[in-house]
Amino acid sequence: MRFAGTRPTRSWLTAIPASNEMRVGIIGAGQLGQMLGLAARTLGVECCFLDPGEAPPAADCGPVIHAAFDDAAALAELASNADVVTYEFENVPVDALRVLDGKVPVYPPPDALRHAQDRLAEKRLFEHLDIPLPGYHVIDARTDLDAAADALGLPLVVKTRRLGYDGKGQFVVRERADIEPAWDALGGAALIAEQWVTFDYEVSAIGVRSVAGEILTYPLSRNVHRGGILHTSCAPVEAPELERSAASFIEGLLTHLDYVGVLALELFVCGDRLLANEFAPRVHNSGHWTIEGARTSQFENHLRAILQLPLGPTTAVGHAGMVNLIGTIPDAARSLAKGQLHDYGKTPRPGRKLGHITVIADSAADRDRLVAEIEQTVT
Ligand SMILES: Nc1ncnc2c1ncn2[C@@H]1O[C@H](COP(=O)(O)OP(=O)(O)O)[C@@H](O)[C@H]1O
Ligand SMILES: [Mg+2]
Repeated sequence: MRFAGTRPTRSWLTAIPASNEMRVGIIGAGQLGQMLGLAARTLGVECCFLDPGEAPPAADCGPVIHAAFDDAAALAELASNADVVTYEFENVPVDALRVLDGKVPVYPPPDALRHAQDRLAEKRLFEHLDIPLPGYHVIDARTDLDAAADALGLPLVVKTRRLGYDGKGQFVVRERADIEPAWDALGGAALIAEQWVTFDYEVSAIGVRSVAGEILTYPLSRNVHRGGILHTSCAPVEAPELERSAASFIEGLLTHLDYVGVLALELFVCGDRLLANEFAPRVHNSGHWTIEGARTSQFENHLRAILQLPLGPTTAVGHAGMVNLIGTIPDAARSLAKGQLHDYGKTPRPGRKLGHITVIADSAADRDRLVAEIEQTVT
């Protein structure tokens, strides 16, 4: 580590030592950037970041260009000092990435980001690839909400097409009387309405594809959300049929998008069926368990893919459980008998992801018991 995150904008360039090491430019220096930066260290790879934050979590892992994500000059500067550029933040303008792509490889491909940024484009991609998904309706006007209720039934969930995360930009319409407030709350943005899925549980499938087209998938993780925010992830899920279906969806997406890097697909499990919810063209919170719980973490494999290094095995090394720490990190989280704490070093704020704890157990039952104990202690 060479500089603190508060170093003035762009002055870091002259201080980068001459080196033959590979350099990765990462757009975004939040906790995902931090975990990529920590994995990069073990590979002997240099990272530099672009982030508007004063002292973002990844600042300990490499120099930070403090600028807006759409600052064209800052993006170009990042690219000119990197062998490859990647992103941990999904709201980077796709056009800005496309410009960089002519100068330095940008992975995952900007076209994957274009699909993930718009729920409608994302759903059309799922349809194109025969990946089953919940019924949906495009909402351009207030009356479309009535039509959606007619077509899909109630409840339904209205979502902004763009910029939603951690359940933000969503409104559940349980009865016709909720349509007006839903429109009042979200009607200023482009919207989509989805059938409310009474799923058994949620899973995510994480896959990685190399430049040469090699694809590996991680074991499925079972995810619990609270208030739209990921609360726990446990892996592996012992459901071979679901595993096979999810892997085929992942392979379809990665191949179609000529993808390089890690991709996460969130799915609803309904009996023996999977319905695709959304995908993220990046490393993902539901894959944090892979740091301790898989032979190669999602972060290391993302770097391996974009740096054209051989991918590492994605098999689980035990039964992993991850509990997110949201809004506060209680003292008890620092003195657990079992469990690895990851403190991102962020300023506490309600609803903010500040850290997580991972446990590895010899059996799913032991893992579930430990996760329940940790949840009781820290949340
Ligand atoms: N159609 C739906 N039916 C039931 N639950 C849903 C539906 N859409 C979203 N949810 C719940 O809300 C969570 C967050 O929604 P998601 O679409 O994944 O948005 P975000 O981009 O905020 O993660 C999901 O993980 C799920 O628990
Ligand atoms: Mg989601």
